[in-house]
Amino acid sequence: MNQSIKEYIVAINSAVEKEHFGENPQELYEPIRYIMSLGGKRMRPLLSLLSYQLYKENYKDVIPASLAMEIFHNFTLMHDDIMDNAPLRRGQKTVHEKWNNPVAILSGDVMLVKAYQQVIAHCPKEKLTEILQKFNQCAIEVCEGQQIDMNFEEQEQVHEDDYIEMIRLKTAVLLGFSLEFGGILAMDNEADQALLYQMGVNAGIGFQLMDDLLDVYADQDKFGKQVGGDILANKKTYLLIKANELASGENASKLNHWLKAKNFDKNEKVAAVKAIYDDLNIKQLTETKMNEYFDKAFKNLADLDAPSEKKVMIKDFFNYLINREQ
Ligand code: IPE
Ligand code: IPE
Ligand code: MG
Ligand code: MG
Ligand code: MG
Repeated sequence: MNQSIKEYIVAINSAVEKEHFGENPQELYEPIRYIMSLGGKRMRPLLSLLSYQLYKENYKDVIPASLAMEIFHNFTLMHDDIMDNAPLRRGQKTVHEKWNNPVAILSGDVMLVKAYQQVIAHCPKEKLTEILQKFNQCAIEVCEGQQIDMNFEEQEQVHEDDYIEMIRLKTAVLLGFSLEFGGILAMDNEADQALLYQMGVNAGIGFQLMDDLLDVYADQDKFGKQVGGDILANKKTYLLIKANELASGENASKLNHWLKAKNFDKNEKVAAVKAIYDDLNIKQLTETKMNEYFDKAFKNLADLDAPSEKKVMIKDFFNYLINREQ
């Protein structure tokens, strides 16, 4: 990866390590330290720093504020893993598995509050109202997306457009806001701030398409999450939507069987659905769709009113996301 991006991530990680979340009761705070210390790509605070550096010299100035994006993200992961019945996160047990659901719910709640505290403590007063309004809007949309994601599990057919709207909400708006946030902290050009948001939404849709792809095709050791989890939960991912659309004959009846099956061997279901995806070239179709959205993000990047040499890090980071394995 680009050396400067690595340096930014090291700086973010060192700020995360120094963060004090609280002590007692231990069951409330220990899971926060646990999930925050498991690493991850730190993409959301990184995006805030990357947009900030387009306009300003010292990216370190906005590290404390940008930690809010990571704390908020980890709150959503803690609750998402309960909803998705996920056993693994970043190569370790999920919080509700290591402790229990009530602990994961309440620790997550505190993280949401802490994310807001971080914004309030580290953003300039004159920009705070605008930032909080946008952060609120984003947080509400993430919850909307998460509910729609769960509703789709029970729905037989989901249209591609409704899926894209669902992932825009659950995933992409936070990437949009993370970029916009760095822009708001750096300058007052509203057109560029809006463009940063749009760029993040486009990259975020591409990112979630890749996440859905990796959920089926990743190498378990590198991925850090349970491979096949989306198949087991009948998640209406882009892969399943396309397979439903394209399957005919034996593929169609097999797919229908596995979507309706109540008692099954997990490995068998994952392998069977994956075989149907392979037969229908679903991986390639998903990659094409993902590239379509990243292309839009690159176009947004080109349109920003910032020096082209400053745009290189963002370009490199998007390329890293397109080729990632975890
Ligand atoms: C996982 O996000 C949740 C999604 C929106 C797909 P990341 O893939 O950014 O997770 P970490 O933070 O790197 O672990
Ligand atoms: C998660 O989508 C989106 C949010 C956490 C808001 P996923 O459920 O696909 O994320 P992973 O795969 O568990 O990280
Ligand atoms: Mg989920
Ligand atoms: Mg999940
Ligand atoms: Mg996923």
